[in-house]
Amino acid sequence: MNDTTIEIRPGRADDAATIAEFNVRMAQETEGRTLDRAILDTGVRAALADASKARYFVAEAGDGHVVGQLMITLEWSDWRNGEIWWIQSVYVHADYRGRGVFRKLYRHVAELAKQQGAAGLRLYVERENAAAQTTYAQLGMTMTHYLVMEEMFDR
Ligand SMILES: CC(C)(COP(=O)(O)OP(=O)(O)OC[C@H]1O[C@@H](n2cnc3c(N)ncnc32)[C@H](O)[C@@H]1OP(=O)(O)O)[C@@H](O)C(=O)NCCC(=O)NCCS
Repeated sequence: MNDTTIEIRPGRADDAATIAEFNVRMAQETEGRTLDRAILDTGVRAALADASKARYFVAEAGDGHVVGQLMITLEWSDWRNGEIWWIQSVYVHADYRGRGVFRKLYRHVAELAKQQGAAGLRLYVERENAAAQTTYAQLGMTMTHYLVMEEMFDR
C-alpha cells in the first residue's frame, strides 16, 4: 500500500466505534492508560453529532477501512483575532504506520485551516512520545515555549 490509496474525509456517525477503539489504543500505547469505554463512546458520539464540540477527520483505505484519525477543536485567540485549530486524538493503525497516512491527514487539515482563515495549528504531545514528536517536527511543527497546566475535576 502507498498513501495514494488513502482518502481523507470528515468523520461520520458510522465511524464512532472505530474512532472510540482508536482512542482506546492510543491512550494505552502512549500513556499506558485504560479509558472508560462508556464515557469515551458517549464523548465520541457527542462530537460526531455536534461540530461545534469537535470535528474528526479520518483516513480511509481503498478497501473502505478507516486506518487513521485526528480530531480538531478550536481555541479563540484574541491576540490574533482568529482561531487556532488544535489537533487531538491522533492515531494511525499499527499496520499502516510509516506510509504517509498521518502526513496526508495533517496536510489535509492544514490546508483546510488555511482556507478557513485559521491562525495556526497546535497540539499537545506526551513528553516521552518521541516518535510522535519527530513526526510532527517532520511536518513542520515546532516546540512552543508553553507548558500545559491543568486542574481536573471529579465528576
Ligand atoms: C505518530 C503517528 C500518528 C505517525 O503516523 P504515520 O502515519 O506512521 O506517520 P507518517 O508515515 O505520515 O510519517 C510522517 C513523518 O513522520 C516521520 N515518522 C513517522 N513515524 C515515525 C517514528 N516512529 N519515528 C520517527 N519518525 C517517524 C516519518 O519519517 C515521516 O517523515 P518523512 O516522510 O519525512 O520520512 C503513529 O505512529 C501513531 O499513531 N502512533 C501511536 C499514537 C500516537 O502516538 N499518537 C500521537 C499522540 S500525541
